[in-house]
Amino acid sequence: MMVGPLSHLRFPMKPIQLFDPASSTYTYVLFDQLSRDALLIDPVDEQIDRDLATLREYGLKLVWTVETHAHADHITSAGRLAELAGAKTAAPLGCGIGTAGVQLQDGDTLKFGGEVLKALHTPGHTAGSMSFLWRNHVFTGDTLLINGCGRTDFQSGSAEALYRSLTQVLFALPDDTIVWPGHDYQGRSCSSIGREKTTNVRVAGKTEAEFVALMNSLNLPRPRRIDEAVPANLTSGLRHDADGALQMQPLPPSGAHQGTYAGDVSPELAWRWIQSGEAVMVDVRTDAEREWVGFVPGAVPVAWKQWPGMALNPAFDQQVREAAGGKKLVLLCRSGVRSVAAAKRATELGLEAYNILEGFEGDPDADAHRGRKGGWRFRELPWRQN
Ligand SMILES: [Fe+2]
Repeated sequence: MMVGPLSHLRFPMKPIQLFDPASSTYTYVLFDQLSRDALLIDPVDEQIDRDLATLREYGLKLVWTVETHAHADHITSAGRLAELAGAKTAAPLGCGIGTAGVQLQDGDTLKFGGEVLKALHTPGHTAGSMSFLWRNHVFTGDTLLINGCGRTDFQSGSAEALYRSLTQVLFALPDDTIVWPGHDYQGRSCSSIGREKTTNVRVAGKTEAEFVALMNSLNLPRPRRIDEAVPANLTSGLRHDADGALQMQPLPPSGAHQGTYAGDVSPELAWRWIQSGEAVMVDVRTDAEREWVGFVPGAVPVAWKQWPGMALNPAFDQQVREAAGGKKLVLLCRSGVRSVAAAKRATELGLEAYNILEGFEGDPDADAHRGRKGGWRFRELPWRQN
């Protein structure tokens, strides 16, 4: 369903609602009528041409893409929209979408022109799920659907949490707030908080215990694309290798390095392992580099070589053993050279050590500038400067 370019004259301040038939997903375009700055909620990979055409048709400049959660049924185009349209990416902090430039917390706002979108943490479908409030519209993702709600039986879902999000967060909004769901499988486009509060078959008039019992008895089939979609969505839908397959598996070291350490991992895979607690990041750059260039929060600094003279760090063996604490190691340096040497040494010490491809700053480009061609920072993974 699409509203024509001049329709705002008749229907002021309404989102543009776009539909992906393959996954029954709604994508929303919100924009400021004066500045033409726009924000996209839950864009779908296969529909990127449609979305770019919509932006052109309305004369909009995309400033934000926002996810309601890490979807299991489709892949987001957020990463590609960031590259093609220059948008910034935002996602709920609790969803593990490490590539999103802004990690949203409850109550955070995103501005587009003179308009403001407010994040409401509404866990339940997934632990990180959010709804977004704009004027008298609420975009509920898979938290609240029309006469339904999202499932709670996978991806850190919780029926108890969903009951509280529905009854205490969403139903606390004014009754005339318009509800725009993340999906509809029956061609319905929107609803209202008042209507859902009184007629939603899953939750209206139910106690928490009744709701939880109902949700736990649904026995829904596993989403067809979950194994492909969730990992891709944790990197904003970006795939980095040449043939477009996800580089979310470690690669064995090649050539002369064969068998000398556990493998090479993409920055995104390293970040996923760190977030899930599987791996510890060790930053093998010098103290000066971390200080001047920036560092990854939570990484353990164990220099491979140190100034002055870039002499080998005599305490490396002991420090890297302590850092690992029984976990896998992912080693980060400037561009991936010292981290290979350090990974080899850690392997000799009996540790499971991986090299992070591209390093913190990536490879130099044609002008010998770093930071524009790959690397942890370029890929917008979390980092800080002192
Ligand atoms: Fe979902």
